[in-house]
Amino acid sequence: MTKIQHIPVLLEEVLTYLQPEPNQVFIDGTVGQGGHASAIADRILPGGRLLAIDRDPVNLKIARERLETYGDRIVYVNDSYANVTELADEHNFHSVNGILLDLGYSSLHIEDASRGFSFMKEGPLDMRYDPEAEVTAAEIVNEWSEESLAKIFRIYGEEVRAAQIARVIIDTRRHTALETTIDLANLVTTVVHAYGPIHPATKVFQALRIAVNDELGELERALPQCVDTLAIGGRLGIITFHSLEDRIVKNFFKSYPNLEVVIKRPVAPSREEIKANPRSRSAKLRVAIKT
Ligand SMILES: C[S@@+](CC[C@H](N)C(=O)[O-])C[C@H]1O[C@@H](n2cnc3c(N)ncnc32)[C@H](O)[C@@H]1O
Repeated sequence: MTKIQHIPVLLEEVLTYLQPEPNQVFIDGTVGQGGHASAIADRILPGGRLLAIDRDPVNLKIARERLETYGDRIVYVNDSYANVTELADEHNFHSVNGILLDLGYSSLHIEDASRGFSFMKEGPLDMRYDPEAEVTAAEIVNEWSEESLAKIFRIYGEEVRAAQIARVIIDTRRHTALETTIDLANLVTTVVHAYGPIHPATKVFQALRIAVNDELGELERALPQCVDTLAIGGRLGIITFHSLEDRIVKNFFKSYPNLEVVIKRPVAPSREEIKANPRSRSAKLRVAIKT
């Protein structure tokens, strides 16, 4: 079996607030390596059913191997959660009691240099969750206009030196294409200086990852569909990792009809969890019930 690398974040909190119970029907829209799904499956199966969705076929395969013992009560789909209504219909998932979206990347994406997500490891500038998706980070970096690059670094990366980074990329690519993660990380370091433990290219890499995978657009398309797919009384839990995603979820929960927020303030990981799994430090869980 492939080694499980990803530690699920806020696992106990997800179980507390989504309340999976025997015989219920759940959807994990970002099954990843199956950490949350395995804990949910333990509670709803053998009588219940779980739809496990992931855009990344490598993670989906790992989840399938990990959850093999549950048999055909779990249905695996390599697709985007932004198609959740259609996928639920297609696989006969009706009256859904709970949906979980645990957003962003998993440990696999950072640890496998060939996926191009890490500024610490040399790999192609890729960053696609779905290896068949059209746009790669290399295309954005080497083909987009200076204005478009500055815009994504500013908006998706909240990078104050967005304009200078876009400028240096344009100047460099006139004579050499930027092909690897390290090419880009080194270039960013000429403009943004290291400050504390955060790598200077962190925000640029976040911005590119969001743009490559249209992460905010996917979330905006998915949220109303999740509510439509839930039964009345069903629960929707979303784990976000940065303020742009969290704002979208917070505003949606506040304004969408037939939704009641379960916890006013988002749930954050405990100090112990952050110590054991530093990646969890920026996680926030919001939960709402369909009324
Ligand atoms: C934080 S990980 C999920 C980890 C999982 N909860 C676990 O316990 O192993 C996020 C996953 O979402 C997937 N993903 C990202 N965008 C997606 C999308 N639009 N639709 C479906 N999956 C997506 C990624 O490929 C990744 O596997």
